[in-house]
Amino acid sequence: MARFTDRVYLISGGARGLGEAQARGLVAEGGRVVICDVLVEDGEKLARELGAACTFQRLDVTSETQWTDAVAVAEKIGKLSGLVNNAGVYTPVSIADTDTAQFERHTRVNQLGTFLGMRAVVAAFERAGGGAIVNMSSTVALRSAPNAIAYTATKWAVRGMTKAAALELASKNIRVNSVHPGPIDTDMLNVRSREENLRRVQQVPMKRLGTKEEIAGLVLFLLSDESRYMTGSEVAMDGGAAL
Ligand SMILES: NC(=O)c1ccc[n+]([C@@H]2O[C@H](COP(=O)([O-])OP(=O)(O)OC[C@H]3O[C@@H](n4cnc5c(N)ncnc54)[C@H](O)[C@@H]3O)[C@@H](O)[C@H]2O)c1
Repeated sequence: MARFTDRVYLISGGARGLGEAQARGLVAEGGRVVICDVLVEDGEKLARELGAACTFQRLDVTSETQWTDAVAVAEKIGKLSGLVNNAGVYTPVSIADTDTAQFERHTRVNQLGTFLGMRAVVAAFERAGGGAIVNMSSTVALRSAPNAIAYTATKWAVRGMTKAAALELASKNIRVNSVHPGPIDTDMLNVRSREENLRRVQQVPMKRLGTKEEIAGLVLFLLSDESRYMTGSEVAMDGGAAL
């Protein structure tokens, strides 16, 4: 039997990038996936391509009621067994250029969104007998980086919330781990110029960007029973960038 047969997974920010690769990987291994995103057209297109095992649900991760709706959709399909808090925004600018609106946007999507997602699935996971949460952080929460203070603050918060939730939920058979990617080849990197990205790659010991499929492999491991003794862990996949 495939690793994810008869199980249902929610992926926020699943319409493209890392979330899309996770959805493809889960479906390929027998899982059923609810792709959640604010990008309706992309999400619906991906769900159509992945077929009956995949559903799209519009979800703005900052909305409590939309989280409730997304969990209800997942539970109608079957046993909700996993959540990837993958949605995120990244606008790197200097401290001086980070205005309050920009800071709050990062906080609401990356930090509040992750908290609301975890809170929304707990009761459903209990009904299913347990579950696994993967929170998408970043290497900036292990080592930090200049010119991204709002993003960095939220990814450290994700790392901290992961540990707090892991401790609180372990007795309910709910595991919570964080993933810390280095620079990965997705649309998110388009906020920087090609030259800036090339310079960034030179700082990576392995001298290349990661791929979304590589990160998906790690996420699927953390969702699967193969990682059943892991909770509260922070796992970097970054070509050595966090060293
Ligand atoms: N690509 C990288 O180099 C990298 C590195 C470290 C961490 N990450 C993290 O990985 C995650 C995925 O990033 P990606 O590279 O695939 O970027 P991406 O921009 O391609 O994907 C992010 C997704 O999140 C969605 N999203 C944004 N705001 C949302 C909201 N309010 N509600 C629901 N969905 C929302 C977007 O629509 C998009 O589909 C993010 O949390 C990001 O911070 C990425």
